[in-house]
Amino acid sequence: MKALKLREEELKKNGRLVKEDERYEVYDIKMSDLVLSLTVLHPERSTTGHDHENAEEIYHFISGKGEILLGNQKYQAEAGDIFTVPKGTFHRVFNTCKENLEFIAIFEVYEGRGESLKAVIPAAGHGTRFLPITKAQPKEMLPVFDKPTIQYVVEEALGSSLKNILMVTGRGKRAIEDHFDRNPELEVYLEKAGKSDVLKEISRISELANINYVRQKEALGLGHAVLQAKDFVGNSYFAVLLGDVITRPSCLSKILKIHEKYRASVIALQEIEPQDVVKYGIVKKGRELENGTFIIEDLVEKPEAREAPSNLAIVGRYILSSRIFDILGKREKGKDGEIQLTDAIKRLIESEEKVIGFNFSGKVYDIGNKSSWMKSSIELALESKSGNELREYLKEILSSHQ
Ligand code: UTP
Repeated sequence: MKALKLREEELKKNGRLVKEDERYEVYDIKMSDLVLSLTVLHPERSTTGHDHENAEEIYHFISGKGEILLGNQKYQAEAGDIFTVPKGTFHRVFNTCKENLEFIAIFEVYEGRGESLKAVIPAAGHGTRFLPITKAQPKEMLPVFDKPTIQYVVEEALGSSLKNILMVTGRGKRAIEDHFDRNPELEVYLEKAGKSDVLKEISRISELANINYVRQKEALGLGHAVLQAKDFVGNSYFAVLLGDVITRPSCLSKILKIHEKYRASVIALQEIEPQDVVKYGIVKKGRELENGTFIIEDLVEKPEAREAPSNLAIVGRYILSSRIFDILGKREKGKDGEIQLTDAIKRLIESEEKVIGFNFSGKVYDIGNKSSWMKSSIELALESKSGNELREYLKEILSSHQ
């Protein structure tokens, strides 16, 4: 108990405010592998309540009176009481009195707690489905209406305030780095030519984000590409956005909200035609958490239709626990002899990590697929200034092709 007392003082002095609303204030102090988190719960309010999934948590009540809900059971709580919240238990704290209720939660370092997550964008694949276009230029640089695909992906990360980005590239992918870099010669030329609008756009791209690059020396699979981000990510949850997938509206913003609520890995999914399951990672759906959000029980990479556990396919947006790196580090090969991210997530689930599936209802354009690429350009063009002209043109050619 003495040790705890000391930490209380430390918390009040050094605690960093990580959450605040009309109900409570939460202050964290990080130790080596623990976080002490002081919650000041305002009179007659309660915490949001969530499933506690990462590890057992200890709640030490310091002052005030309240109740703690553990699973289905409510317990009285007051100064000096200590409760443990086992992994997987839904819990919530209520302040039943007129003063602030203070308690310290002690738990393993929650990865990424209170910080904005880092984003990893794998873009080192061969893009064989797009040969010969991709022989000398990256698939991720294919234009979708008026921008390269990868720019939409970076903008999606920035739209969710994920500014710290690692791009995994490889041989033949220099155009990606050049695209996000400055080009002083071009800038001077545009300035002299009085093309200020284009100049503004060009400069904006290079100022978009803090983009770091790492090379995947050999395209050994998506899991291997993600493994290259181990040092960049450290001990934190992180986002993965496939460099050849565009989502509208942003799928990342949706899975981030789910992650914040459940503090777990989250994978975006979409229902596909049964004959297409052989092209995707497919999940087995478990307990429903809320509409369209559920626990994933299992995953399989590119199954045959008769073996597929569902028609819910992984679409290329993930929030993952950094524990995935230990699994990827084993470099187990799966389907097509590649180190598959899907297999690593399966192992994560087997190690009792909670992985949540989210059925995304927005649009997903897989640019690695030719018809999806064409559709993306048409749809974006239809929404642009030249949309009406294109609409008329499409009507015209459709009538002449009937
Ligand atoms: P794909 O599954 O589309 O593979 O990768 P690919 O090699 O790019 O394309 P095909 O199948 O040969 O036509 C999905 C994303 O993962 C990246 C790709 O660059 C793409 O953005 N990736 C894939 C890597 O970064 N490294 C890999 O080893 C494989």
